[in-house]
Amino acid sequence: MIPKKFHLGWFTNFTVDEWHEPFASGGGSPWDGQFYIEFCKALERACFDYFMLEDTLMVPESYGGNAELALRRASQVPKHDPVPLAAVIASHTKHLGIVATMSTLGYPPFLLARVSATIDHLSGGRFGWNIVTSGEDAAAQNFGLDKLPEHDLRYDVAHEFMDVVNQLFASWEPGAIIMDRDTETYADYTKVMPINFEGQWFKCRGPLNTAPSPQGRPAYIQAGGSDKGRDFAAKHADSIIATANGPAAMKDFRDDVRRRAAKFGRNPDDIKVLYLFSPVMGETEAEAWMVNERGMSQQRFAERRLALMSGITDIDFSKFSMDEPLPVDLTTNGESHSLKRFAQFGSGKPLRQLIKEAKSGSAEAVGTPDQVAQKMGEIMAEVGGDGFLIRNPFHNSNRRYIYEITDGLVPALQRRGLVRTEYTKPTLRETLLEF
Ligand SMILES: Cc1cc2nc3c(=O)[nH]c(=O)nc-3n(C[C@H](O)[C@H](O)[C@H](O)COP(=O)(O)O)c2cc1C
Repeated sequence: MIPKKFHLGWFTNFTVDEWHEPFASGGGSPWDGQFYIEFCKALERACFDYFMLEDTLMVPESYGGNAELALRRASQVPKHDPVPLAAVIASHTKHLGIVATMSTLGYPPFLLARVSATIDHLSGGRFGWNIVTSGEDAAAQNFGLDKLPEHDLRYDVAHEFMDVVNQLFASWEPGAIIMDRDTETYADYTKVMPINFEGQWFKCRGPLNTAPSPQGRPAYIQAGGSDKGRDFAAKHADSIIATANGPAAMKDFRDDVRRRAAKFGRNPDDIKVLYLFSPVMGETEAEAWMVNERGMSQQRFAERRLALMSGITDIDFSKFSMDEPLPVDLTTNGESHSLKRFAQFGSGKPLRQLIKEAKSGSAEAVGTPDQVAQKMGEIMAEVGGDGFLIRNPFHNSNRRYIYEITDGLVPALQRRGLVRTEYTKPTLRETLLEF
């Protein structure tokens, strides 16, 4: 039987590289973008569907009530704007999809639609927007609010936001640009119409002042895990970035969003669910376990994980004992699904163990490239699709790990017929829909 192919993406952000590791990537100065250009060229050689740049909009202070740990460990900060980096990457690649995160909290819809259309042009139709609502009080306070709006309300606002941007993207009818030499007419003004949007939260006249872009709108990427979040993704997303603890939970999540998509009248196959996945590899299985052990036993591994969890939940994880489970009544107005998945409430596992288990993304994989490839095929066969989003298991991106994936794991997947060996479509949305 010919195996069903699955998709590959990479999950990272525009931040410091692994400046202090034995095989560091050049000294912690990735700000000129060169490291990311090289990174993306390697991903393109390996035929990844997309490169995804996560983002947040604050210096986190929730761990211990100050920014000490976040800054000492460079966790979530410094972090640069992914949008200009996406434009730079676009000009150095030809096929790879490039996804930048932009928050509905920070951007007015008109500017978001405008910059998206612009980068979609610059990339020849390879731009994607990771739609987020932001999950931190500190981010809200950078945009004139005293605190983050309540979780479900953020999704209601985001639905209206989508309505505005979708109308803006459609504000130029097909064929509006005529470039008629005889009449010296560039665009037909009767086909470029205001949208006159007046909603509960947004008011926007339109039309958009950019030319219609190759994809019409960017590919929409989303990561909601709550009830409201899943509905949002099912309604809008071309691809969902997801986490789940193990193949059974991965299958449940995917089945659930597919059901919801059908309920909204969409073809569930039009949504590709990609799971965070952080394999650890070596030339032998024993070597891979050694790398795994070394990575997880470092103090910085635990500290960075806690700093991250505090940052995205506004919960001070410095208050909890490493040797006990987290309190079961812990809640957040931030990333609720990420908290639930991390805390594994009711499992009785101590915090120390939860930190280790959070490393894997969605399923543990430690071994040779062939062993990991085999496992990925088995997981996808059980889950039903649609792919993986690779993320460095321990720290930030570094060249050594990137090439282990692109030159070890991907060829092993390709030999099994599990992933693409070429790009056949020009745009990101078409690439996602290819299988
Ligand atoms: C894999 C993954 C990636 C995410 N990336 C971002 C991000 O870059 N920026 C951000 O503000 N939120 C990010 N989020 C948060 C989600 O967009 C969403 O707001 C959060 O999961 C809360 O939604 P929920 O309560 O429906 O799970 C991410 C979540 C997941 C699971």
